[in-house]
Amino acid sequence: PPLDEILNLHDFEAVAKTILPDKAWAYYSSASDDEITIRENRAAYQRIWFRPRILRDVTHVDWSATILGQRSSLPVYISATALGKLGHPDGELNLTRAAGKHGVIQMIPTLASCSFDEIVDAAQPGQPLFLQLYVNRDREITKRYVQHAEKRGVKALFITVDAPQLGRREKDMRMKFVDDGAGAKVQEGQSDVKKDQGVARAISSFIDPSLSWKDIPWFRSVTNMPIILKGVATPEDAILALEAGVQGIVLSNHGGRQLDTSRSGLENLVDIVAALKQRGPWPNPNFSVFVDGGVRRASDVLKALALGASAVGIGRGFLYAFSSYGQDGVEKAIQILRDEFEMNMRLLGARNLGELVPEMVDASALHSH
Ligand code: FNR
Repeated sequence: PPLDEILNLHDFEAVAKTILPDKAWAYYSSASDDEITIRENRAAYQRIWFRPRILRDVTHVDWSATILGQRSSLPVYISATALGKLGHPDGELNLTRAAGKHGVIQMIPTLASCSFDEIVDAAQPGQPLFLQLYVNRDREITKRYVQHAEKRGVKALFITVDAPQLGRREKDMRMKFVDDGAGAKVQEGQSDVKKDQGVARAISSFIDPSLSWKDIPWFRSVTNMPIILKGVATPEDAILALEAGVQGIVLSNHGGRQLDTSRSGLENLVDIVAALKQRGPWPNPNFSVFVDGGVRRASDVLKALALGASAVGIGRGFLYAFSSYGQDGVEKAIQILRDEFEMNMRLLGARNLGELVPEMVDASALHSH
């Protein structure tokens, strides 16, 4: 269908499903094992209800945000999704260009199809970018990669901590990996292809399962970028992260692709914010809490922000947008979210993100499944 018939982010998924080659659809859409967690990521948002306020003069509403010190036109960033060229010949550059045009922040994946430098070169001067890091067994490779990113102006380092081994995404595992050029062009030594394990496992065997809390000071010593741990799921680990001196956490289950029957990031948010509130100032300007997984509507984002998230990540929503329509699709997705923010904030009676308070949502059904 023509792009102007796309009305919401779900529509991009429906289009992508019909036009993507089987291998790409399997890799992008799959989640681990019985795919319970990916379903729950959506379902959790549907257990939260709004408590809108009225008569507040909502002529002007503002949904712009600051994410890790960077201005963003939305309280949303583009989360890292690997292998963009499976979906579209321009791969991740579709995201970079649309993000630059509309003031949105993209998190570059370690396993991008385009090289890191190609992506940074496609950004506009001053366009903020984040980097997602898979940590290599060879720490020299990781150190060079991180320091190169910092030198090229990347503003924050998101270390993925929920993938010491990749989950079994069985839809994807039924596909044989064939290097058709969409493979990750990562730094030398990052890829160690095992061809019979599906696309995801084929490109990720360099990831170091020995990564531990003891490594955090080493990361601190090699970079001045803010460090965020992507894939925290419990208050216990949120507190350890705070104590380790990192600048934030992403409450994520990797889009349902890692430990199946993990809870949703949204459900964990409530418990984690409660734990953090007992440990010091809240909101904490030096410690950001992000959420991702299942976000497809601005109303989802507003729920997470009301419950204490600093911003929200979207993976598949943007991935399916560029798979279907290239850069135009991503721009359309941003436009759709913008329109949804305007309407929902008016109807909710929040003129800016600071006015989104926990009292604006009823989360009493969140923990009942
Ligand atoms: C991902 N995600 C991911 N995360 C990460 O840290 N490194 C990676 O290489 C990837 N790759 C990746 C590929 C694909 C195809 C998907 C769908 C996801 C996870 C991603 O950053 C994010 O956590 C989820 O995508 C969020 O869930 P939604 O928005 O896709 O529902």
